[in-house]
Amino acid sequence: MYMSKDTRKETTVHLSAILGVVLLFLVPVTNAMWWLLGMPTTYQSTLELKPTTYKNYCKKLHYLVDKQQELCGLSYNVLMIVGHGAKMGIEECQHQFRMSRWNCSTFNDTPTVFGGVLDVKSREKAYVYAISSSGVAYSITRACRIGELPDCGCDNRIRSRDTKGRWKWGGCSDDIMFGSKFSKDFVDSGEDRETQEGLMNLHNNRAGRR
Ligand SMILES: *[C@@H]1O[C@H](CO)[C@@H](O)[C@H](O)[C@H]1NC(C)=O
Repeated sequence: MYMSKDTRKETTVHLSAILGVVLLFLVPVTNAMWWLLGMPTTYQSTLELKPTTYKNYCKKLHYLVDKQQELCGLSYNVLMIVGHGAKMGIEECQHQFRMSRWNCSTFNDTPTVFGGVLDVKSREKAYVYAISSSGVAYSITRACRIGELPDCGCDNRIRSRDTKGRWKWGGCSDDIMFGSKFSKDFVDSGEDRETQEGLMNLHNNRAGRR
């Protein structure tokens, strides 16, 4: 069949439009990019943050959602502590699955961290969400206890620090509650409550914190 140049061009445009739409649905959306904080290079750079540099650094981390950037800005060692939690989650996962065919391998410094295993609903995926959420809750709780994050103690001067009313430090009575709440705020904020996928991840995050 003869096609004029214009028609062919139009067909190509159409095809790529259709392809674009199809890909949009096929490419899985992994929101939990914060896992990157537990990977060696990123973790190392969080260790080097200083009270004078962290605020700008938080704003530059485009793999964090707005809420996570906001929490990041609360104290210079939030990122390091969250990163430590993510790192513990990854290590525990690799330990638990060391004998399995899927051994919780990670991919250095790519935003998806765990790669293709997250594309399908699986026990492995659920485990990754649960263990990393639990890692953050544990790490924050520990940081409060050893004073790495003095802001979560009972210092009212710090607690009344202005966070524009969106997030308040608190929890001098129960560290675990605090760690768990912080983990919930940080980790869950990357998920979309409007999708089945998001709801499933939120469930697994909660299970991990428990
Ligand atoms: C996972 O298994 C592969 C292949 O056996 C191995 O190369 C890799 O080091 C393992 N990763 C971890 C984290 O144990």
